[in-house]
Amino acid sequence: VQKRDFLYEGKAKRIYQTDDENLVWIEYKDEATAFDGLKKGVISGKGYYNNQISAILFAWLEEKGIPTHFVELAGEREMIVKRLEIIPVEVVARNVAAGSLSKRLGLEEGTPLQRPVLEFYYKCDELHDPMINEYHIATLELATSEQMDIIKKRAWEINELLTGYFKEKGIILVDFKLEFGIHQGEVLLGDEISPDTCRFWDAESREKLDKDRFRRDLGGVEEAYREILNRLKGGR
Ligand code: C5P
Repeated sequence: VQKRDFLYEGKAKRIYQTDDENLVWIEYKDEATAFDGLKKGVISGKGYYNNQISAILFAWLEEKGIPTHFVELAGEREMIVKRLEIIPVEVVARNVAAGSLSKRLGLEEGTPLQRPVLEFYYKCDELHDPMINEYHIATLELATSEQMDIIKKRAWEINELLTGYFKEKGIILVDFKLEFGIHQGEVLLGDEISPDTCRFWDAESREKLDKDRFRRDLGGVEEAYREILNRLKGGR
């Protein structure tokens, strides 16, 4: 597969066409944003870590029967994926209270949830990604109810699978965000799964190993991302 024309740029990635109309080329950037784009910075090595981490997780999920857009790595910070028509719904799964859930429901960060929670957000910059429910999704025609059934089922499966996978690596999967898209009529998991889009805590020390280190100026951001990749590669 050959890299072709630049298509567009998001906050964390650049997308290029390829010589195959079914595939696109993704370049992961070191630039980081938080708080709806208000905080900006660079996390050196982030593009490399997020690309490698996402590749490992997508390949593992595929093995477990979850269809994803991932095709293959194309370099240190590049991967080739199936072209998706993105469904503009961000799906957040949560196992432990943190972030906006702690704030909204007044739950202390770190409180285990009696039952995991799924949330939906409308992926829309102008509206600042408001939280929505399935009625909103239906009335805005963001996804069909059949697609939502698939998305919910997959999101719960992915939560189950990843929670166990990370537990074996000594990591608590606190929460994470997923995006899905349509490729040749099929719903596929898209975007990335990385410390940018998940909250990971060390199971023993409960140290944060994710983007919250950047959001909250905790230092050791690059080291945290590297630690996640190392754990996934088997070192502990
Ligand atoms: O901020 P909040 O607590 O709602 O985030 C929940 C999870 O979703 C976190 O793991 C966060 O990194 C992720 N997230 C994301 N992209 C967004 C919003 C949240 O990856 N636009």
